[in-house]
Amino acid sequence: MSLYAIGDLHLHFQSEVRSKSQRRDRRWKKHEEKLRKNCASMISEDDTLVLVGDHSWGRKLAECEEDFQYIRELPGRKILIRGNHDHFWDAKKTGRLNERYKPELTFLQNSFEVYREYAIVGTKGFTFEGPFYLDNRGRIFDWDRSAEAHSRELVERELQRLRDSFEQAKAGGYRKYILFLHYPPTNILERESGFTEMAEEYGAEHLIYAHSHGEMRFHDSIQGERNGIQYHLVSGDYLRWMPEKILD
Ligand SMILES: [Fe+2]
Ligand SMILES: [Fe+2]
Repeated sequence: MSLYAIGDLHLHFQSEVRSKSQRRDRRWKKHEEKLRKNCASMISEDDTLVLVGDHSWGRKLAECEEDFQYIRELPGRKILIRGNHDHFWDAKKTGRLNERYKPELTFLQNSFEVYREYAIVGTKGFTFEGPFYLDNRGRIFDWDRSAEAHSRELVERELQRLRDSFEQAKAGGYRKYILFLHYPPTNILERESGFTEMAEEYGAEHLIYAHSHGEMRFHDSIQGERNGIQYHLVSGDYLRWMPEKILD
């Protein structure tokens, strides 16, 4: 029994791809087939696969059915985290999604799931991504202050949702945590954030995130060990469609 993670499938069986890099970058060529093969060769039915957001380009559920069918057919138990492109997923109506797609798919929002003695907690997260203003040497000298102020409100809401997930797990008697965010825990200006602080406060052992696409963005945030937490970037193009094993 093992726990695996990968994010940003950006499936489009019934919808249009809305990113230039996904249409042009060779890492994305037939990525559904690559992932299907990799999952089949490494993941068993008693394993757990966490999909870390940006599942589908579909704007509403009716445009996602074939994408969900593809995800259902991947081996193992599947837990889904909400991404910024998952317009089919209204956080307040997560119960309806779980009702509709159970038992194959579990949509995690203001709740937690269990893996061995661990609680799997998570939320979409959020981080300020600019616009940043660069000088003629390409160094950041300023950024859009009003966009940053707005982003602080979104961060606060996501921190509240994450705390809710942690507190439910704690009330359930769990003391070991694996934390999933779709967004990176810090942006390019930060060394720490409310998310890294909360991960440390509860003693999460791993923090797993996705969302970063392309060589230029793979190193935007933390990777490896910091303050006792293992940080992992698992966006699909970064992993070349090979899910990462987090725990045995
Ligand atoms: Fe994405
Ligand atoms: Fe994303």
